[in-house]
Parts: sequence; C-alpha cells; structure tokens
Amino acid sequence: MDPFVFHNPTKLIFGKGQNESLVNEVKNFGNHVLLVYGGGSIKQNGLYDYVITQLKEADIKITELAGVEPNPRLTTVRKGIELCRSNDIDLVLAVGGGSVIDASKAIVVGAKSEADIWDIIKKKAQPTDALPLGTILTLAATGSEMNAGSVITNWETNEKLGWGSPFSFPKFSILDPKNTISVPEDQTVYGIVDMMSHVIEAYFHKAENTILQDKIMESILLTVMETAPKLLEDLTNEEHRETILYCGTMALNGITQMGLRGDWATHNMEHAVSAVYDIPHAGGLAILFPHWLRYTLDEKISRHVQLATRVLGVEPTGKTDEDIALEGIEKLSAFWTSLGAPNRLADYKIDESQIDKMASLASNRGAFGNFKPLEKEDVTKILTAAL
Ligand code: NZQ
Ligand code: ZN
Repeated sequence: MDPFVFHNPTKLIFGKGQNESLVNEVKNFGNHVLLVYGGGSIKQNGLYDYVITQLKEADIKITELAGVEPNPRLTTVRKGIELCRSNDIDLVLAVGGGSVIDASKAIVVGAKSEADIWDIIKKKAQPTDALPLGTILTLAATGSEMNAGSVITNWETNEKLGWGSPFSFPKFSILDPKNTISVPEDQTVYGIVDMMSHVIEAYFHKAENTILQDKIMESILLTVMETAPKLLEDLTNEEHRETILYCGTMALNGITQMGLRGDWATHNMEHAVSAVYDIPHAGGLAILFPHWLRYTLDEKISRHVQLATRVLGVEPTGKTDEDIALEGIEKLSAFWTSLGAPNRLADYKIDESQIDKMASLASNRGAFGNFKPLEKEDVTKILTAAL
C-alpha cells in the first residue's frame, strides 16, 4: 500500500425517511439558503414542493438558482456566485444529481474567493474558503455527494475540467432512496455505468498489497452487477434504488482509493469528448472504457486478470492471461450494452472529424493516467478504435 491520510468531512445522512432531517441540518448554518437545482425534475417529482414547504415552515429565507445544466456550465456557476454575494447567503443547498452538486461546489468556493472561479478550476489560483454546502442527492451516479470533486464546462473554450479542494466537500448530504425513484431508465443506466467506472478507474493501480481495497472494490462491482438488472426490471423498487444509491457513494467517497492511485485516464478522455459533443458522461465512459482496457493489456496484466476472474465471471482454466483479460473486457462491455448503454461513438453521431480536437483537449495538460500514462497519440488511437 502507499502511505495515506483519509479525511472525509461530509456528514452522510442515508436511508428511507431521511428527507425529514433537512431543516435541522440547515439550521446549523443560518437562515438564508441559496436553493440550487436543475431543469425541473424536482418540480415534477414533488421534492421541490417538499423542500420549499419545510424551509418556509422553519422561517428559512430562500433564494433560488434554477436550470443547472447536465454537464454544468461556468456561466451558471458565475450566476450562483453573484447570487451568494448579493444576498448574504448562509448555506447553498444543492438538490439534484452530480451536475447540480458540482455547480454548487464551484459556487460555494467562488463566493468566498477573491480569485476568479475559472482560475481556481484551472489551478492557477488556490481557494482559501467556501460557504457551507448541503445537498439532497436525486440521482445515484457520481459520488459528488460525498467527495470534493467537481466538473465544470467552459463552452467558450470547450474545456470540461475536474477540480476539487478541501473546501468543496459538502457539509452534509441527504440520500433518501425515495428521491431517486423518478430517475428515468436511461439516467439510471448511466448512473450504474458511472459508479462502476469509478471503481474500475481505482482498480487499475500499481500499488502492492491492496488486499482489502481490492475486495472492497470487487464487492461494490459485484453488488452493482447483481442489483442493476433487477432495478431496471422494476424502476420503482425502493430496496434496489437504496442499494444502488449506497454503491454510488461508496464508489467515489475515497474509501476505495486509500493506499493506491487509480488511473483516471478514461474519465479525462471522456471529459474531452463531452466538452465537444455535450453527451452524457457515462454514455462516453461505456464506450471508451473497453477500448482503454484493451489498450492497456500490456501494462500489469495481473490487474486485468484479477478483474476478469473475480468480478466478470471468466473461467481461467486452460487460457492465457491475455485470453482471460480479453474475455473479461468483452463481458464488461456486453453487460453495459445489455443494460442499454451505448458502445460506439457513432451511437452519438460522433465521427473522426473532431478526434484531433478531443485528443488535444484531453492531453493539453500533459501526459495523464497513473496506471498507463497516455499522450495525445494514444488518445487518438483509443478514440479512433471507439468510432
Ligand atoms: O436537471 P434535472 O431536471 O434535475 O434532470 C436531471 C438531468 O436531466 C435528471 N435527474 C436527476 N435526478 C432526477 C432526474 N430525473 C428524474 N428524477 C430524478 N430524481 O438526470 C439528468 C442528469 O443529471 P446530472 O446531474 O447531469 O447527472 P449525473 O449525476 O450523472 O452528473 C453528471 C455530471 O457529473 C460529472 C459529470 O462529468 C457530469 O458533468 N461528474 C462528477 C464527478 C464528481 N463530482 O465526483 C465524478 C464523475 O465522474 C463525473 O465526471
Ligand atoms: Zn464518472
């Protein structure tokens, strides 16, 4: 294992009925909330009315920022920062999926920084403080509810960049499975692919003696793979929603990554694709991950073999390591396709015309990927194979 420090300050409030804890949590931080939400799903499923009623009954003042986009945009973040500054906001309350939470992380940090938020995201300036952030998660996917990460898109420059700081952890996150029942089938599938991808990114590491971490990661993957088909058969099943919700948080709250450095190149490549085409994050991952796996077969193949045999059900007897690894990749790709995820860039009408631009965007901060460092020409090959 690599030496590590683990510090996750987010208070996780998980389970059926936990929406009821909202007011008590909010009151710890003050009386004026900036309520941040997306394009309207919380109005359709009743959560908006619930939140407004609870806060009003507790005499909490509400200012609203509606319309955070999937793949949230810098322009929206700037609006939120301005609202915080001009309204003396005590707490930002993000009610939504990863996009709403990620935008809110940039808002709370930007509102308390003299530096411009884009400079902070580009790592040209350091944040020094943040407004408190609370969340009610409505979509199991990103893990943003219990990590410091945030991904923001600047459409002026076609950059979609991940960033994070110790100040961007939510103070509390409420995860009531009831809030995820209305997630439509396609977004449910994307969430499943995304959380599995977070585990697989971490699984491809070069640290030694990671026995417990490996088994934790394998357990998350096996649990998701066992539950996902049942959930897709019955989208309103609260037990399956609860299991998937818990897996999504555990997949990216830091626990899987103690003592190791995951790869994360596939996420970086996907962000470059969605910075140009604005496709769903996990749609891109489902397409790119099998190609990244094939491209890295020559890099510590024991990790590939372990994933294939322990998680993907490959029977190893009489097969070479390469055969085992390749069969595992096929099974992973087939599993995602069976859920309804895309598996070619062409599924999003992406052709070769923008490959050079996407490869440049992915690699413009230098070689990336901790398991196998990739340069621009590697990205070009992977994207071309994924067409
Ligand atoms: O905008 P609304 O109307 O709320 O609708 C959303 C949106 O259209 C809808 N939705 C959310 N909850 C729902 C619901 N519809 C019905 N019922 C509900 N309960 O789902 C759509 C997608 O929402 P979004 O928040 O964009 O999805 P997700 O949670 O997958 O977040 C994706 C973003 O997170 C970033 C991605 O790159 C992407 O920008 N990521 C953030 C990470 C992090 N912070 O740690 C890590 C991830 O790897 C990822 O990169
Ligand atoms: Zn992801």
